[in-house]
Amino acid sequence: MRILFVCLGNICRSPLAEGILRFKLAKNNIQYNVDSAGTLHWHAGNPPDDRSIKTAAHFGIDISNLRGRQFSLNDFSDFDLILPMDLQNKTDLLKLARTTEDRSKIQLCLHFAGMGERAEVPDPYYGDLKDFMDLYHLLEMACDNMIRKWSH
Ligand code: 4NP
Repeated sequence: MRILFVCLGNICRSPLAEGILRFKLAKNNIQYNVDSAGTLHWHAGNPPDDRSIKTAAHFGIDISNLRGRQFSLNDFSDFDLILPMDLQNKTDLLKLARTTEDRSKIQLCLHFAGMGERAEVPDPYYGDLKDFMDLYHLLEMACDNMIRKWSH
């Protein structure tokens, strides 16, 4: 299974989700590929936001080596599951989808994790470190649900 998390900038939410899921997959000996991308190109090549790096590090996860990249059409063939963080990210991806198969790969991250049909991971960019801690806990809950789903 190949999983791609998608947010707007690929510096706050999706790299944190990538780090958490990688960490938990390794702990559970599940060999899935995980990556993340942004719908915007603004932060391509940049490391995650300091607040995401600090938050992940607080829980023993190092995401400092990740680099931002923009979502590309190739991702529709390179990944089985494409998990946008919010409804805007989902709408943007659906606009890029060319086929029914492309569209079928796109699901809101929290919906896939069984946390509500329209539940969103809010954009923390203008928030403070506390918002990033909340973000961590939300993404951790989602990743725990995914691991449960894939463990049997
Ligand atoms: P992300 O957060 O989508 O979770 O990476 C954001 C990062 C950058 C911007 C917005 C959201 N920005 O406007 O530059």
